[in-house]
Amino acid sequence: MARKLGIFFAIFCILLTSSLADWNILKEYKTTNSGLKISLKNYCESWRMNVELHNIKDYVVIPQECVSYIAKYMTSTQYKVDSERTIDECIFHLSTNCILGKDRKDAWIFDIDDTLLSTVPYYKQNGFGGNKLNVTSLEDWISQGKGTALDHSMKLFNHLKELGVNIFLVSSRKEHLRSPTIDNLVHVGFYGWTSLILRGQEDECKSAQGFKAEVRSKLISNGYRILGIVGDQWSSIEGLPSAKRTFKLPNPLYYVA
Ligand SMILES: *[C@@H]1O[C@H](CO)[C@@H](O)[C@H](O)[C@H]1NC(C)=O
Repeated sequence: MARKLGIFFAIFCILLTSSLADWNILKEYKTTNSGLKISLKNYCESWRMNVELHNIKDYVVIPQECVSYIAKYMTSTQYKVDSERTIDECIFHLSTNCILGKDRKDAWIFDIDDTLLSTVPYYKQNGFGGNKLNVTSLEDWISQGKGTALDHSMKLFNHLKELGVNIFLVSSRKEHLRSPTIDNLVHVGFYGWTSLILRGQEDECKSAQGFKAEVRSKLISNGYRILGIVGDQWSSIEGLPSAKRTFKLPNPLYYVA
């Protein structure tokens, strides 16, 4: 009985705090659970930080009050600097931790969306992560091949080509988007990869993480040594088998499990 009451009380507290949080949204300033008075920017900055730390997972939309903050971040110099730093660390890892084999079996894995190609132009027109994802409209946009190149990633891409490392593009994009994906990549300057691996029909019921781990497993059994992965989603870098090192680019816009 006491336990039941305890559970009831806990649920009551959760409901109470969430309704208070909703009420606070209306004000420019918010109060944290400990009573600290903070600005909306503090609140949204901490939300973004905890997304990147992977403490916040599985969100379907950005908290409504942070949509304009995230829109600002994704189009800011800070986003560029953060991304460039990720790529610089990849290049540093290659130069310090990796001795390339003469058998040409070294490999690197890239995501596509918001790793090589930016989907920010799409999200700009579609609520900037504040609306639930409409797969049909995103795929319509993808099939127009309008993704813009992320220049920082192109630097790493071309560096890997010069080193003779095999580049694998592993994406949750579906197989029917293969031809617009290739056109888009080549058009903005990405070419010379070893293989582009998309989600076939048999992969559609798998999670992105499960699908990508399976791809890595196949690459390893084909004798490849995966020196690194760079992606904007945790599902691209978590799970086993992994790579020598993994690198996470910033992307608070959406979450892919
Ligand atoms: C999703 O996008 C498609 C294509 O733009 C549109 O026809 C459809 O109404 C949208 N669905 C929702 C639920 O908004």
